[in-house]
Amino acid sequence: MAFDRSIKIAPSILSADFANFGQEIRAIEAQGADWVHVDVMDGHFVPNITFGPPAVKAFRPHVSTVMDVHLMIAPVDPYIDAFAEAGSDIITAHLEAGPHIHRTLQAIRAAGCKAGLSLNPGTGLEDVAYLLDLVDMVLVMTVNPGFGGQKFIASQVDKVRRLRQMIGDRPIHIQVDGGITPETAPLVAKAGADVLVAGSAVFKGGSVENPAPYGENIRAIRDAAQSGLQSA
Ligand code: DX5
Ligand code: ZN
Repeated sequence: MAFDRSIKIAPSILSADFANFGQEIRAIEAQGADWVHVDVMDGHFVPNITFGPPAVKAFRPHVSTVMDVHLMIAPVDPYIDAFAEAGSDIITAHLEAGPHIHRTLQAIRAAGCKAGLSLNPGTGLEDVAYLLDLVDMVLVMTVNPGFGGQKFIASQVDKVRRLRQMIGDRPIHIQVDGGITPETAPLVAKAGADVLVAGSAVFKGGSVENPAPYGENIRAIRDAAQSGLQSA
């Protein structure tokens, strides 16, 4: 995984057909997805439950790009090794998930994965400075985590912009997640995000039998993001 700041689209399989994950993953990759975003929810840190390490392990053979695992769970530390062994390339943990996020990020790297740090919309950047040496990606949540299909929170664009300044030349991705569409993609790309997660906006109108809309949706988000960059 060589580092670059080109725009990457990471469809969230939270919006896929839950009876057909393998085929859905192969379909979005064939239709141009750069990464595959896997939303793990525990019914405690967030008010929704999705899947655990055995499911993530079952996804792995279907992913030929990057398996990007977003853990919305607390506590998170006891589960890092299991998600690493399940084949995650990137594991992202929430700053709000416990008192020892520094240790959590160390543990993710020690387990052989790239480390992501996620911030809820209500969390500021003050605590991020001392963590930058430990992260490969910072995820700015653009909705409150828990569900797909929510409305983009516009105040987060300025957070992305300030984070981009903090990061400077460090090889750290900025990811955004929640409410990303062709309308909101230019705003976050212009502010400095390079990895755009999108669930409902990618999967809408398509299916494994008719995957072409996935490709059209991915292209529309990417083109919109790139036009935002050109106006930067
Ligand atoms: C929200 C998840 C997102 C979600 C995005 O808690 O982290 O990845 O699936 O869904 P959309 O793109 O539909 O807002
Ligand atoms: Zn996510």
